[in-house]
Amino acid sequence: LASVEVDLAPIQPGQAIKVMWRGKPVFIRNRTEDEVKQAQAVGLAELIDPQTDADRVKAGKENWLVLVGVCTHLGCIPLGTNSGEAKGDFGGWFCPCHGSHYDGSGRIRKGPAPKNLQVPEYAFLTDTRVKIG
Ligand code: FES
Repeated sequence: LASVEVDLAPIQPGQAIKVMWRGKPVFIRNRTEDEVKQAQAVGLAELIDPQTDADRVKAGKENWLVLVGVCTHLGCIPLGTNSGEAKGDFGGWFCPCHGSHYDGSGRIRKGPAPKNLQVPEYAFLTDTRVKIG
């Protein structure tokens, strides 16, 4: 399928789900207010692949984070979605293959991965429905 539509209504604040899109996992996290604030507070100088949190979400929908769930090192699937709990040292995802830590914006913070988790093309169809791709 070229694109996939996802109902966001069941995803509670602080929870994340995984959907498949073009054969790849996509993570969708409903961030809490605190998680958004923490992600926004990170200075660009602290980042390996500098991007603001605003660069990675849609204006007015800052709680929703949509990421391709493929580690930018060698392509493993980072942990931090299935249990609904963030993983790693930076409140986001942890890739167990070689120890890359991604933050609550999906940005690489520690470990061998060179790039942030990719944000796929997506759009909100309604307040509770997104189309990925
Ligand atoms: Fe994720 Fe190597 S594939 S750290």
